[in-house]
Amino acid sequence: MLTRNYNGVQHTNGVNGTKAAEKVAALKTVAAETSGLAKIELPDGNPFTLFRQWHVDALASHLVLPNALCLSTATKDGRVSSRHVILRRLEDDGFVIMTDRRSKKSAELAENPAACMTFLWCYRRADGVTVNQQVRIEGETVELTPEQVGDLYEREPLYCKVRTHLCHQGVEVDWDEHKKKHDELLQKVAEGVQTLPCPDHFVAYKLYPTMIEFYYAHDSFIGDRIMFLKKGGNNWEHTRIAA
Ligand SMILES: Cc1cc2nc3c(=O)[nH]c(=O)nc-3n(C[C@H](O)[C@H](O)[C@H](O)COP(=O)(O)O)c2cc1C
Repeated sequence: MLTRNYNGVQHTNGVNGTKAAEKVAALKTVAAETSGLAKIELPDGNPFTLFRQWHVDALASHLVLPNALCLSTATKDGRVSSRHVILRRLEDDGFVIMTDRRSKKSAELAENPAACMTFLWCYRRADGVTVNQQVRIEGETVELTPEQVGDLYEREPLYCKVRTHLCHQGVEVDWDEHKKKHDELLQKVAEGVQTLPCPDHFVAYKLYPTMIEFYYAHDSFIGDRIMFLKKGGNNWEHTRIAA
């Protein structure tokens, strides 16, 4: 079976156009293309059960950052921005991330708590199957209290605590000066003359989803999608939708 994936991005400046076309033509001569329909098997009617199942599979795969997600936020007047952050905690009813309160995303969440998180898990399973999974999660974010944030901060590795104290996210820096400040801070921490307590600008948000959509495709199979919509309380309705 010929497995064609999306690695062969076409460059319009002709860098890879001819070679890629030749490669595809050559592959066609040695293997027939095929098609099929992938299917999502639902363990139950709760999207968190399926999320946990896929998340556990992604954690067990060779993926370097299975907890990375694309976070999209928007201003009140609808100007959207996206960036990747790390999922810090998966709770029964939401997804927790951490950042700098002085950042662009925090400014946007303050004026518009609506946000979207997108996970992308593409990897090869032990049996050789190429898995392409995406989970899109839309909802409202709530800022966690300092007590709820404290234990998250304490679990951070040293370099993350140093970064939190050193970096004012999004502000212009001179690299040499930044490095000097970094080394001085690290030195003081190493000598025990400075500690790295959780600063005020360390903030965590929890996204409470109202919509969770799963996409699954494998090899040359056409993707399957299931969209869950929250219907109040812990009740969800789901619909299968076309890829
Ligand atoms: C893989 C990866 C993980 C990241 N994780 C975080 C994170 O957990 N929190 C964070 O504030 N920034 C994280 N960043 C940096 C953000 O992508 C972004 O550059 C930064 O938060 C500033 O975003 P903003 O200016 O849109 O607020 C990460 C970047 C990458 C590439």
